[in-house]
Amino acid sequence: MNIEELKNEIYKLKRKKNALIVAHNYQIDEVQEIADFVGDSFYLSKVCAERPEEVIVFCGVHFMAESAKILSPHKKVLLPEIDAGCPLADMVTAEDVENLKKKYPDYSIVCYINSPASVKAKSDVICTSSNAVKIVREFPNDKIIFLPDKNLGSFVKKQVPEKDIILWEGFCITHYKIKKEDVEKAKSAHPNALVLVHPECRPEVVELADFVGSTKQIIDFATASKEKEFIIGTEMGVLYSLKKLNPDKKFYILHPGMICPNMKKNTLQSVRDALLYERYQIEVEEEIMQGAKKSTC
Ligand code: 13P
Repeated sequence: MNIEELKNEIYKLKRKKNALIVAHNYQIDEVQEIADFVGDSFYLSKVCAERPEEVIVFCGVHFMAESAKILSPHKKVLLPEIDAGCPLADMVTAEDVENLKKKYPDYSIVCYINSPASVKAKSDVICTSSNAVKIVREFPNDKIIFLPDKNLGSFVKKQVPEKDIILWEGFCITHYKIKKEDVEKAKSAHPNALVLVHPECRPEVVELADFVGSTKQIIDFATASKEKEFIIGTEMGVLYSLKKLNPDKKFYILHPGMICPNMKKNTLQSVRDALLYERYQIEVEEEIMQGAKKSTC
């Protein structure tokens, strides 16, 4: 089947099954193109919970589809490629959280959405990159353990200096590739460009940025800006919306290795197969589901 035939087949199956297709901003262009909604983790979990469709094809990675299932337990949530995982999410386990709770009984656990459901279930509150600062600032306890991403945690710590925040040592292998020198080089090559980065970047990279935000916040910022050139410090999938929404602006990626291998696993073929065979269904154990739901706001 060629690309056009695959797309037509997807639209046909989508109508027949009354399914919703959502895609994260890091998906390949063709997948973003056929999705009903494209966005960041926060936006997509809200869309999945609010929309009436009973079948959701989540084009993203495992923890994202799992989050959609937690928020909409009665819906059928499908992940086109079952091995599309997230190394950052795998850097913390439920047992680690148990041990932290024993070691620091006065602290509350703030868990980044990039984590397994079993970890969410043992946490006090869940955040995304777009609301992490607000969640930590407004949380009633001043003693916080932030996990699993130490870079997003450092960013939050800087914005909320009044709180005592312990960081877990996890990180995103893709964002971690960007070094301070890459920003300096890009800035001298494009002196008029603004630097927009994701908070999963190293603190010394974030320090040099003009704007720090989630993938959707980066896209919204560049789209609303009067400036014409931007240096982008996140996975290259965001270029799809950036270029589509801003054909007159220029975007330079901070590092050539900004490709998340897991996000790139979903293809038109696997989306079509997901709809046709209703696979791969995401299930979360009832007890974990209840625990994770309680900490999701
Ligand atoms: P966003 O919520 O900003 O889209 O980030 C998700 C993610 O996994 C970043 O690596």
